[in-house]
Amino acid sequence: MLSIQSLSKRYNTGDRALTNVNIQIPKGQVVALIGPSGAGKSTLIRCVNRLVEPTEGQVFLGDTQLTQLNTRQLRAARRRMGMIFQDYALIDRLSVMENVLSGYLGYTGFWRSFLRRYPQDVIAEAFRLLERVGLESFIDKRADALSGGQRQRVGIARALLQNPQILLVDEPTASLDPKTSRQIMRLIRELCAERELSAIINIHDVHLAQQFADRIIGLKAGEVVFDGEPEALDTDMLTLIYGEEDWNPQTDTEDDDSVQTQTPDPIRMGAKVAMV
Ligand SMILES: Nc1ncnc2c1ncn2[C@@H]1O[C@H](COP(=O)(O)OP(=O)(O)OP(=O)(O)O)[C@@H](O)[C@H]1O
Ligand SMILES: [Mg+2]
Repeated sequence: MLSIQSLSKRYNTGDRALTNVNIQIPKGQVVALIGPSGAGKSTLIRCVNRLVEPTEGQVFLGDTQLTQLNTRQLRAARRRMGMIFQDYALIDRLSVMENVLSGYLGYTGFWRSFLRRYPQDVIAEAFRLLERVGLESFIDKRADALSGGQRQRVGIARALLQNPQILLVDEPTASLDPKTSRQIMRLIRELCAERELSAIINIHDVHLAQQFADRIIGLKAGEVVFDGEPEALDTDMLTLIYGEEDWNPQTDTEDDDSVQTQTPDPIRMGAKVAMV
């Protein structure tokens, strides 16, 4: 459904961020993209919706070659790709409902959408989505009165209002505590299953990636060095992706989930190392 073919990106500065990346993502598949800082995760997501222009290669969403679209066509195509951001990208002084409705015209045209009146069925759908993400009692609250987890739920509802075919998610939990992070990942996972949505989720927490993704792709210095099922990601693979590390379980105090922290688990250690 999403097909990334021979994708490379070299920034004007000369930095080579991606080299010959090939990834096919079928409908409904949730992919976690992991890798150390600077590996090219954000660049890859942004090449898909062309917030960053690829240097070489093609990206197809269904039959549409995204890499060949003109500005007007691209605007339409971007509505099929919901974007969820680490910093939520909400407008603080607007209400939860207004923020969600701003997704109606896509994330590129906020001010245009802000000045518009919305059709009744769009408002009804926004209500349904806010209910689904657990924010029905926050509809009239200003966005800046919400916690991080609540803000991310607004971001998710806004992305879904576009009725996208794929979610592009850049570190959705990086600013959240461990428990809220799991809740947000679970929510994204469930919504993808309910709507047969694909997702690419950039995430530093390897354990969360393993828990909630169907497939993990490891990037290192702009190249795919791992592509497989979460179970196949062992310490050797983590070392390949992140480099040599001390996977000593003694050092892990990051998480509040006592059941999981009691058993030494190399993948959890990987999660910690990945965040450094
Ligand atoms: N706008 C830019 N101009 C020049 N170089 C850039 C730009 N954005 C990213 N880069 C470079 O491209 C490479 C990949 O960066 P990218 O932000 O995609 O990595 P990342 O995996 O998302 O990292 P992080 O985990 O820290 O978010 C890095 O070497 C980075 O310095
Ligand atoms: Mg990034």
